[in-house]
Amino acid sequence: MFAERRRRLLDAMGPDSVAIILGARLATRSADTHFPFRQDSDFWYLTGFDHPNAAAVLRKGGGPAFTLFVEPRLREAEIWTGYRPGVEGAKRDFGADAALSCDELVGSIPEIVGGARRVYHVLGRDEAVDRALVAAVEEMRLRSRVGKVPPAEIVDPRSLVHEMRLFKDDRELDIMRRAAAITCEAHRQAARLAHGGHYEYELEAVLDYTFRRRGARGPAYTSIVGGGANACVLHYIQNDQKLENGTLVLIDAGCELEGYASDVTRTYPVGGRFEGEPRAVYDAVLDAQIAAIEVVAPGETLRAVHETAVRRLTENLAQLGILTGDVDDAIAEESYRPYYMHQTSHWLGLDVHDVGAYMTDGRPRELRPGMVLTVEPGLYVAPDDEGAAPTFRGIGVRVEDDVVVTAEGCEVLTAAIPKAPEDVEAWVQDR
Ligand code: GLY
Ligand code: MN
Ligand code: MN
Repeated sequence: MFAERRRRLLDAMGPDSVAIILGARLATRSADTHFPFRQDSDFWYLTGFDHPNAAAVLRKGGGPAFTLFVEPRLREAEIWTGYRPGVEGAKRDFGADAALSCDELVGSIPEIVGGARRVYHVLGRDEAVDRALVAAVEEMRLRSRVGKVPPAEIVDPRSLVHEMRLFKDDRELDIMRRAAAITCEAHRQAARLAHGGHYEYELEAVLDYTFRRRGARGPAYTSIVGGGANACVLHYIQNDQKLENGTLVLIDAGCELEGYASDVTRTYPVGGRFEGEPRAVYDAVLDAQIAAIEVVAPGETLRAVHETAVRRLTENLAQLGILTGDVDDAIAEESYRPYYMHQTSHWLGLDVHDVGAYMTDGRPRELRPGMVLTVEPGLYVAPDDEGAAPTFRGIGVRVEDDVVVTAEGCEVLTAAIPKAPEDVEAWVQDR
C-alpha cells in the first residue's frame, strides 16, 4: 500500500527529480516531557513509518528510489523509549532501498540534490535542512563552469501528495468505517451521562475511555463537550461545567484509528427530553443537515452543500421568529451569520480538517467518488443576543456526520449514531 503510493508520487514527479519528505519530531509538552508521538500525516501516508526524526528521499532517475533516514538502533535509548527499527528495519520492514541514520540527513543534502533537475521540499519546516539545501544549490551554481548543474526548481510536494490523499481507497474507507463504529459507541456511552449534575469532563472521560478501550489512539482532536451556552463557543474545550436538565449538551468528538479521523457532533437533551425552544432549534438544524447530505453526489460541490444548509437554516430561523423579513434577502445580506458563522463541510481523512484543494481553476471543485467530507450545520444563539427572544438565548446545536461520495451519491459513515430526536432521547434515557 505505501509502496504503491510512493510509486504514484514518483510517477507524478517529473523526470530527474527528488523529493525530501520530513517526518515529525517529538513535541515538548513541558520541561523534559513530550506529547505522545504523532507522525506527520504525509510522511505516514507515504511510508507507514511511525517513529520520530525520520525523513524519506524519493528519487526518480538513477540511485535508490526510496531512502529512509531513521534513528539508529541504540540499546541505551531503547531501554528508555522502546524499539527502533533502525537502518536494518527500515530496509527489511519498510521497503527502503537504502537507509541511513537521521544524523546523516543534513550532511547528505548535497548528494541528494546533486544531478536533480527539480527538488520537492517543504521549506520552513526544518531550518538545518533548508540551509543545507540552499547552500548545496548555491555551491552547484558556483561550480557550474566545471559541469555542475543546479536544480532549476524547488517545488512544494504537498499539492501532489494532498491530491492523492483527498481520494480514499477501499482500505482507507474500511478504517474510517471502523473509526465511525468506535465513535458511535463512545457517543452512546457519553449520552448516558447527559443528565443534570454530571460535569462535562465526565462525558469527555467516557469518550476517551471508549476510544482507547476499542483500540483507537484517542480523540482525533480535543473533544468538545459544551453544556448550555457553552455550545455557542465553537471550539469550547474547557469541558469543566456542570450540566443542567432542560438544556442541551453539544458533543463534538471522534476517534483517531490507524491515523484516520472521525468527526461527529451530536446535541443531546440534558435529562433526556427535547422540549420547547431547544427542541425547535434542534429540529431546525437537523432539517438543514439532512437536506445538505442529500446534495452530496458526484458532480456537486461543497458550495452547493453549504448553500443548501444556509437556505434551510435561514428559512427555519425565519419560522422560529429569530430572523424577520424575506428569506432571500436574509441570505443575500448574510443576516443569518450571527447564528451560523462557519462552513458546512471540510475534507476528512488522516487530518480532521484534511488536505486537498477546495477550489480548482478558481471554482469550487466537483465532488468525486472516494472523497470524504463532513456535513455539519449548526445554529448558535449567543447568550447576549438582543435580537432573539430571551428563551432562545444560549442555545447551541450542531449535527455533524462523515460522508463519503460514492458513484451513485453518498454513504453516511456515521449513520449508526442516532439523530432523530426520539432516538437521541432514547440513548440519553437508557442509563
Ligand atoms: N471538530 C472540528 C470540526 O468539526 O471541524
Ligand atoms: Mn466536529
Ligand atoms: Mn468537522
